[in-house]
Amino acid sequence: MKNIKLELKNVEQFVDKELVDKFAEVAEKYRSDLLNGTGAGSDFLGWVQLPSDTDESLVSDIENVAAYFKDNVEVVVVVGIGGSYLGAKAVIDALSHSFDMMTEGNENPIVLYAGQNINEDYLAELKEVLSGVRFGICVISKSGTTTEPAIAFRVLKALLESQVGKEEASKNIVAITDESKGALRTLAEQEGYKTFVIPDNVGGRYSVLTPVGLLPIACAGHNISELLEGAKEMQKNLLLTSFEDNVAMQYAAIRNALYESGKKIEILVNYHPKLANISEWWKQLYGESEGKEGRGIFPASVNFTTDLHSMGQYIQDGERTLFETVLSVESANRTLEIPQTEDDLDKLNYLAGRKLDSVNKSAELATTLAHVDGGVPNLRIVIPELNAYYIGKLLYFFEFACGLSGYMLGINPFDQPGVEAYKKNMFALLGKPGFEEETEAINKRLED
Ligand code: PA5
Repeated sequence: MKNIKLELKNVEQFVDKELVDKFAEVAEKYRSDLLNGTGAGSDFLGWVQLPSDTDESLVSDIENVAAYFKDNVEVVVVVGIGGSYLGAKAVIDALSHSFDMMTEGNENPIVLYAGQNINEDYLAELKEVLSGVRFGICVISKSGTTTEPAIAFRVLKALLESQVGKEEASKNIVAITDESKGALRTLAEQEGYKTFVIPDNVGGRYSVLTPVGLLPIACAGHNISELLEGAKEMQKNLLLTSFEDNVAMQYAAIRNALYESGKKIEILVNYHPKLANISEWWKQLYGESEGKEGRGIFPASVNFTTDLHSMGQYIQDGERTLFETVLSVESANRTLEIPQTEDDLDKLNYLAGRKLDSVNKSAELATTLAHVDGGVPNLRIVIPELNAYYIGKLLYFFEFACGLSGYMLGINPFDQPGVEAYKKNMFALLGKPGFEEETEAINKRLED
């Protein structure tokens, strides 16, 4: 099996070698902090050994639940937000047929999402399409108290119970939450739902390889053993190799060197629409891990070539604070050639017989060269092919590099104090019991 490759030839002219060396020198120490729990946020390092520590029995248990859903429902609604949904969606989209819902012979339930927003139209329309449909719910919340999924779950639970009765409904609801605390744990026990545990020492954005990601991914019909196998291989590789062969150490060092050289925005670029939600997952991972204490690279993303026709101008020519990290899939899973036509009215016969992937690769190379000429450093991450094994490798690579990179930046990559601020205001505005003082203060502020 191949490894994920990191190509840096289009970065080196933009950073001083001494700066990269400065970060390379500390990479070993930060890796040892991740392994031994000697750095900041050490209570949240459960994800480091997760691929190698995941029991076969947990995998079978998850697969059995997925098989139950496959036999009994047409749709599984995954209810969760942030780290409790982005990983599952990223992997499912990366591995599924692009037009899943229209393919014949797909016996797996359709996976839909709720609780990732509080939008009335969205939830009302979801209720509408679920009405009369056999559906199951996979409700995911580590804290068990997050407002968005709690609202969606309340609505969908009521719908399911009204359709099949309370007893039958409880067989089609699975809760993934803390082992002992939180409202969802209490509710799950009271209603007799099947549950899976989110380990205490794994934060939301690092939880894709726990049941949080694994159950929805298995429900969509994807091979979670292969996903874990890929992650395990990457784990072994990153824990053992030194800087010269260690893609996570190199990625972490280069991006910090670029940041210190004034490149404050990293754009994750893909040339494959199935990777669009890998970027969403990556943005949460890096944004929530690193954006602290007035510091941190801003993680952005684009889908090429689509966005070359919208964001291309800015990237080529706008403020020079950007660098790009291109996700490139080495081999396509399918084959499609451009056909020849007799009249050649569209003037495309010069491409006749060329595979679309080779045209896409030419677009990638052309864009990289243009952007580098325009002053945008380009890193390239090469994924051998799009399958569960390599996606597992990619996820673990990004997680490990994020831990290292956060330490290089001098922050704790495992907390998220900033996300509480909006919640406090929202609870104050909604008049949540226990927030009386905040309610009074915010009302006064709005009046003034
Ligand atoms: O990464 C995080 O910690 C957050 O994005 C959480 O995953 C998100 O807020 C959902 O939290 P919970 O799983 O407690 O409902």
